[in-house]
Amino acid sequence: MQVAQSLAANVVSHVLAGKNLTVALDESFRQNQEITPQQRAVTQDLSYGTLRFYGELRALLNELLETPLQDQYLRCLLLVAIYQINHDQAALHTIVDQAVNAAIKARKSWAKGLVNGVLRNYLRQREALQQKITADETARYSYPQWWINKLKKQYPEDWEAILMAGNQHPPMTLRVNQRKTNIIDYSNLLSQLGIEAQVLDAQALILQKPTSVERIPSFATGEVSVQDFGAHQAAKLLDIKDGMHVLDACCAPGGKTGHILELATVNLLAIDSDQIRLQRTQSNLTRLGLQAELKVGDAAVPDTWWDGTPFDRILADVPCTASGIVRRHVDIKWLRREADIASFSKQQAQILPALWRLLAKGGKLLYVTCSIFNEENQVQIDRFLEKHADAKQLPLDFASSQSATTQQNVDASETHLSEHNIKSHHGQLFPCAQHDGFFYALLQKI
Ligand SMILES: C[S@@+](CC[C@H](N)C(=O)[O-])C[C@H]1O[C@@H](n2cnc3c(N)ncnc32)[C@H](O)[C@@H]1O
Repeated sequence: MQVAQSLAANVVSHVLAGKNLTVALDESFRQNQEITPQQRAVTQDLSYGTLRFYGELRALLNELLETPLQDQYLRCLLLVAIYQINHDQAALHTIVDQAVNAAIKARKSWAKGLVNGVLRNYLRQREALQQKITADETARYSYPQWWINKLKKQYPEDWEAILMAGNQHPPMTLRVNQRKTNIIDYSNLLSQLGIEAQVLDAQALILQKPTSVERIPSFATGEVSVQDFGAHQAAKLLDIKDGMHVLDACCAPGGKTGHILELATVNLLAIDSDQIRLQRTQSNLTRLGLQAELKVGDAAVPDTWWDGTPFDRILADVPCTASGIVRRHVDIKWLRREADIASFSKQQAQILPALWRLLAKGGKLLYVTCSIFNEENQVQIDRFLEKHADAKQLPLDFASSQSATTQQNVDASETHLSEHNIKSHHGQLFPCAQHDGFFYALLQKI
């Protein structure tokens, strides 16, 4: 445990200094190749958990320290240990002892009394301190205050549920490649292997217990992909038919590209501005046995990659704050600044009209973000519609894309559909047990 505790403390301190969590973990694993798979898994869990509840842990630590601790490694080691005390199954005295040992191993023997004292003090006063910090919303919800304020204003009824859902462990949803298998056969395969899952629609099922990709049956041979059920709606809402000319702008790493190609035989161009991420799109398509034309390109500057043939369908999965997927990317809560919203919003406002020019008359463009902030979503669309008289926003029909079996339980006239389905508020999907937070707007050229 001490190794994982120490590595997680380093990872957390890198993230708090501005590094992306995935990058920080990758670097840590590359530099510590001798650690066991189990130590890797625990390091990952502790890093994610500590950052998920960083607001709460920071407030607790501040209460426990008489003066701020300048040493970032020790500060993060204490945060990790407090996280473990609150959430781990390990014996409390072991957590404390191992943290003291980690400080000694890091050549900070001078701090062993401090680490021991702070953690034992926490164990003694745990309930009182927890009680005390709840007055502070950043501590209670573990989000920056500007984020909480924004959601309160934008969603006066739902803000608290959205914050709480973003602090849960994310579900793991699989999309069945209907070109290779079908939901019934694949569900049977899972149950034969003792893997519990629940069917969500004709191509998606949610695993009872998330697992590693290597353990997913037939993943390597392309029978399934991992895709959140919110993201899963994109290809279905796009209303694609065989023979269409389709653009997937901002495609990488190709989750939705693969789904489009599984659903229909289309002539698909997929672009992304990031060459490395585009290579991941290619390997995903290869695994699935699918083909598309892939190009590096800036969606806001089509003249550099477009051949002039209009598209029947365009998927615009634009860059955004990713505020709807914080339970998968817990670092986003602490790395985003409020000012980032304006800069993403500006980028989106350049991409959308640039892509609109490429759409055939009668064609449809699906605008997507994995954000819950209005400025990137309906506000962006309203601004676009004001300036584009040839555009109309179409209603979204999530219910019609449910499978026959799940459809029986659905009353499509309700805004909140039953538990297996999508909860949409005018195209805004809030994170919940079944899916992450997304926004969808379907526009047609008239
Ligand atoms: C939300 S992700 C796309 C996810 C992808 N559609 C999927 O389902 O797997 C946004 C993508 O936009 C790309 N991107 C950012 N700015 C871009 C631009 N100006 N033109 C094209 N792609 C861009 C990023 O590299 C990133 O891969």
